[in-house]
Amino acid sequence: MRILTGLQPSGDLHIGNFFGAIKPMIEAQDDNEMLIFIANYHAMTSNQNGEILRQNALKAAAAFLALGIDPKKSIFWLQSDVKEVLELYWILSQFTPMGLLERAHSFKDKVAKGLNASHGLFSYPVLMAADILLFDTQLVPVGKDQIQHVEIARDIALKVNNEWGELFTLPEAKINEDLAVVLGTDGAKMSKSYKNTLDIFAPLNTLKKQISSIITDSTPLESPKDWQTCKVFNIAKLFLDEKGTNELKARYERGGEGYGHFKGLLNELMLEYFAKARSEYELLLKEPNKLKELLEFGAKRAKELASVKMQKIYEKIGL
Ligand code: ADP
Ligand code: TRP
Repeated sequence: MRILTGLQPSGDLHIGNFFGAIKPMIEAQDDNEMLIFIANYHAMTSNQNGEILRQNALKAAAAFLALGIDPKKSIFWLQSDVKEVLELYWILSQFTPMGLLERAHSFKDKVAKGLNASHGLFSYPVLMAADILLFDTQLVPVGKDQIQHVEIARDIALKVNNEWGELFTLPEAKINEDLAVVLGTDGAKMSKSYKNTLDIFAPLNTLKKQISSIITDSTPLESPKDWQTCKVFNIAKLFLDEKGTNELKARYERGGEGYGHFKGLLNELMLEYFAKARSEYELLLKEPNKLKELLEFGAKRAKELASVKMQKIYEKIGL
């Protein structure tokens, strides 16, 4: 199966992103043809500061590589290193009815939140369609907010195929419905917009602060505690196997330990779980040349696929 996903280089990654999106992607690398890129052209729609965009793209690349994207198994690149996608974006624009874009929720939501209603933001789904269609993508793993964009890509592909014959593979969105939503420090869905996250690469003192902000009740230290409703337990169990989970339940039921102890344990569990990724991340950021080399290796592989596809498209459009 050919799976493609674009990752926004924005903000710090949290454990909700990890269990909901990154871990399934890492696991899929063994049995699929995975194409993964850092969507830095898309990031320009919400930020036009070159230095920040450059830093964010490199930080995101380091983070995903550190967490387990294997550039030998997957094709992993920076979107702007394969410029064919912009050419295809323009060609697809000729097949994109205004009405299709006017119906896009994401555009309306972003403008309502104060982003400039620029042409770039409006045509964001066409660039996303180009990302997807350029590589004959079969499956696109996305969060719920991106399903409509994959449907738009599919609609555009159908229109082109009607005109030119079977040129594009019709993509499908894949949503990880069965994966549980990770809850944040306040018990709501963990999200950077709610500021209730535990961040994977946070400095030690920041992580400690994030964990200590988890809301708990006022059960006294000596008393038994209810693990079922405890937000600390809920997160800690993500890092434990069955035996570890049962042992922690027993500690809650026994009493004699306060929430501070359990928060300390969660801190240790998280640091242990991400120890390798955290040190790899620091290493990659200190060696930007190594990072760039890995990205260039991926871009070269992606370009090989892109140029074969573009040749077929040039013939049709008369270029
Ligand atoms: P955020 O809500 O922090 O802005 P994004 O919307 O950037 O996160 O999400 C990126 C990916 O991570 C999406 O595929 C989304 O489904 C997944 N994800 C985000 N938050 C969670 C969560 N709390 N639990 C499970 N998956 C999540
Ligand atoms: N729009 C996606 C997001 O915000 C990122 C993205 C860009 C993407 N191009 C893509 C995702 C192609 C999947 C396929 O998360």
